Amino acid sequence: MAEIVGCLMTSHVPAIGSAIARSAQQDPYWKPFFDGFKAVHAWLERARPDVVVMFYNDHGLNFFLDKMPTFAIGAAPVYHNADEGWGLPVLPPFRGDSILSWHLIEHLVDANFDMTTCQEMLLDHAFVVPMELLWPQGAWPVRVVPIAINTVQHPLPSAARCHALGQAVGQAIKSFPQEARVLILGTGGLSHQLDGQRAGFINKDFDLMCMDRLVNDPAALTTYTNRELVEQAGTQGVEILMWIAARGALPGRARKVHSNYHVPISNTAAGLLLLESVDAKARLRAA
Ligand code: DHB
Ligand code: FE
Repeated sequence: MAEIVGCLMTSHVPAIGSAIARSAQQDPYWKPFFDGFKAVHAWLERARPDVVVMFYNDHGLNFFLDKMPTFAIGAAPVYHNADEGWGLPVLPPFRGDSILSWHLIEHLVDANFDMTTCQEMLLDHAFVVPMELLWPQGAWPVRVVPIAINTVQHPLPSAARCHALGQAVGQAIKSFPQEARVLILGTGGLSHQLDGQRAGFINKDFDLMCMDRLVNDPAALTTYTNRELVEQAGTQGVEILMWIAARGALPGRARKVHSNYHVPISNTAAGLLLLESVDAKARLRAA
């Protein structure tokens, strides 16, 4: 049976990828950010996930404004990264898990989520930068299932809908009959705005409130409209939708394993949150 071993949320700023490419992790600018991942690496050794299901937002590499699915899911045996113009090296391909992908698709469509299914999908920085952060040695020890949520072209799906999508993904994973240790990822945010009059906007109070609610009361975040999220977190801070979806996939009550918050990385408030399901842990211990 498949098991969700944890849920990790992180920012995905492209400059992180370029810092990794330059081995700048210990530079004073980067150290407080990269040091936040030491505890994650130690946890990964214990949790030993073999599949990553990741909620992320494509920024124009795979989908563009002419064709923009609200929710898309990969069902490919292999996924490639490609040059987006950020000057980042193109990373080695990622092994898919098409059996799990199709299981999720069946379940999600059955649960009235009209997913766009992608048997080819280029993965942009929002997917690959978090993978590099988790596995800096570069050989990916996990299979992957990417789930893309539109946060580029309005109208965007609501926080409530993204949370419900995450919950449906969590239920689908629970019913997957094969052995799999699944790590849920949500990438993006926290507060940032890259252009317009408020370029450079950061809202630490709002970010920390979100990180707190994501642990104990994620439903509280589903009451925000996207207009309110943009107001509070900035135009691109609306990527918090990915964190809300990821939290939905984690069954029951959550325990915070680790967190970090560092401002700024490029134009972004960089957040990191690692959660485990309390209820799943208790069930496992009882078994
Ligand atoms: C930045 C942040 C993002 O989330 C992104 O997708 C691109 C750039 C930044 O802060 O530079
Ligand atoms: Fe982004």
